[in-house]
Amino acid sequence: MNATDRRLGERVMRRLDELALDTDEPGRITRLFLSPAHARAMDRVQRWMEEAGLNAHRDPIGNVVGRLACTNEAAMTFILGSHIDSVRDAGRYDGCFGVLAAIEVVEDIRRGGARLPFAIEVVAFGDEEGVRFPTTLSGSRALAGTFSRASLSARDPKGVSLGEALRSFGCDTGAIASVARSPHDVCGYLEAHIEQGPVLEVENLALGVVTAISGCSRLKVVVSGEAGHAGTVPMSRRKDAMAGAAEMILAVERQARGSADVVATVGVIDALPGAINVIPAQAHFSIDLRAPTDASRHRAVAAIEGELHSIASERQLGLAVTPNYDAAAIDCDAKLVAALSQALERQGHRPFALPSGAGHDAMAMASLCPVVMLFVRCKGGISHNPAEAITVEDAGAVIRVIRDFLLHYEVPSSKAIAHRMAAR
Ligand code: HGY
Ligand code: MN
Ligand code: MN
Repeated sequence: MNATDRRLGERVMRRLDELALDTDEPGRITRLFLSPAHARAMDRVQRWMEEAGLNAHRDPIGNVVGRLACTNEAAMTFILGSHIDSVRDAGRYDGCFGVLAAIEVVEDIRRGGARLPFAIEVVAFGDEEGVRFPTTLSGSRALAGTFSRASLSARDPKGVSLGEALRSFGCDTGAIASVARSPHDVCGYLEAHIEQGPVLEVENLALGVVTAISGCSRLKVVVSGEAGHAGTVPMSRRKDAMAGAAEMILAVERQARGSADVVATVGVIDALPGAINVIPAQAHFSIDLRAPTDASRHRAVAAIEGELHSIASERQLGLAVTPNYDAAAIDCDAKLVAALSQALERQGHRPFALPSGAGHDAMAMASLCPVVMLFVRCKGGISHNPAEAITVEDAGAVIRVIRDFLLHYEVPSSKAIAHRMAAR
């Protein structure tokens, strides 16, 4: 039992329990982008940032940003952060842990009186999960300057566009471009996050350094058949959209199982008109596909689309496959990976590197600056599930390691920055 880590981790764990109360669905954690629960969570996080001595504000894309300035006004800024939106019926650690741990670290550094040669910002991104709108990473993309204004017309299941939702949330969509940071101002980004997989637990390690993040493709599939009476239409004469979708979903699974590094999930399905005694005229389903390289991801998407079309023609069904999300795989910055591994070692942990199958705001931030992530083990590797769990000691270990990393971090020289710019 590490008493220091226990003490360091206690307040974060308490606050995570409090933040879990900000939900749109009482009895379970669901906090969608720009929802009433998201607004309440932003209030809470901004208050904690201010109590930690950070100068906090909200930006026009629904992020909360807290800043610990540097005595040198012209100094660069190192950003810590993660997201506070959630999936439906979520766990309480995905995203929120990284934000609250970062607030603890910055408060600890401020109280410790260290004068760092760079400013530190903590960002609570509002739209990492992409559950409400068919777009995601809006907050981190806006910071990185890669937010596409076309996504303002993306609509949620109730037909509300992202732009309308932002405006009714009190955000000035005309000012989103002003959120973009210059790569000359931001020297790096570190995101602490639960692993959401079983590797660290199997290795009996509390922490791991992320080397790369898988790319992600999301597609919407609409299968069109012919509605009919469930009791009268002979099986041989049916154009059953739901049965066709079922065969297609098994094809998605078979394709992913058949490739070493691809994972694919159908998480959402809907049948229309949705009556027990009507042969479905339409079936809509989602595909979420990940792979560590963009080449294997795009190959898998093409193979799956080909199979869906052949199933549709065999069954005389209509088919529309619409890609609605594409996030490229990214590599974490080798220098930051090495520096974070050294911090792990100095703090008594065996340095361990691993890739991330899950997506993160770091993917978007990689367009702005060098990024790295610190994973903390989670019980059974479970996530996107209320059973998600970490220990208070591991939470404290994360705070200790990030503090050590920042106290040893060296701002890149202007030559190194110019070199990075030239390579972009
Ligand atoms: O889906 C993901 O990988 C992340 O949790 N949004
Ligand atoms: Mn997450
Ligand atoms: Mn998630």
